[in-house]
Amino acid sequence: MEQGRLLYEGKAKRVFATTDPDLVIFEYKDDATAFNGTKHSQFAGKGELNNRLSGRLLEAVAAAGVPTHFVRLLSATQQLCRRVVIVPLEVVIRNRVAGSMARRLGIEEGTTLRHPVFELCYKNDELGDPLVAPSHAAATGMATWSEIRWMERSAATVNRILSEHMAAVGIELIDFKLEYGRRDDGSLLLADEISPDTCRLWDRTTGERLDKDRFRRDLAPLLDGYREILRRLEEATT
Ligand code: TMP
Ligand code: ASP
Repeated sequence: MEQGRLLYEGKAKRVFATTDPDLVIFEYKDDATAFNGTKHSQFAGKGELNNRLSGRLLEAVAAAGVPTHFVRLLSATQQLCRRVVIVPLEVVIRNRVAGSMARRLGIEEGTTLRHPVFELCYKNDELGDPLVAPSHAAATGMATWSEIRWMERSAATVNRILSEHMAAVGIELIDFKLEYGRRDDGSLLLADEISPDTCRLWDRTTGERLDKDRFRRDLAPLLDGYREILRRLEEATT
């Protein structure tokens, strides 16, 4: 299995083909972006941290029975993944009000919810990834109703596993974003990344933000938060 041509370059990752048509290589870059790419910086070591964090978190959900694209780490910044066609929807789960939900509904960040929120956003940078109702997604063919129901159940399971995993190291999972992909046989796999770029993670005692909001809102040095999450997770498993 060898690295092939660049298939896709995103804001924080590159995806390469391999000599095996079922496998791709994900390479995590040192870039951080926010607000649809309008804010951009580089942080030496971010790619390595997210490669390790995402690999670890994808393995944790896979161990609990959620099929994912992750195969194994290849190097400091690369991981081997199964090739999928990405469903053009971002699946967001929220355990507390934060970010765009706080802004859209005028509710204070940190407010508790009666149950987790399931949201879909249409993956389209030009439109700014707008929130869509499941009915929009199904009626326009972004995903079938059965895929939407499947993703909702899967994301609820991921929420339970990740919340427990983080709670065990004193971190609260506030919200997160997932992406799913289709395999050749039409089945879905959890794809993309699970990292502090795609989750809000707050220290359970102090409320300190350990995730990408440090960069979005200029709160604190970005990678100190990422290193702290990885340190706690590694300590818990040794
Ligand atoms: P939001 O509150 O800005 O809608 O973000 C909800 C969650 O989704 C948060 O954990 C950050 C994550 N997210 C991404 O991973 N990518 C994105 O492009 C956006 C807007 C949010
Ligand atoms: N990843 C998105 C961007 O670059 C937004 C975000 O995570 O805040 O622009």
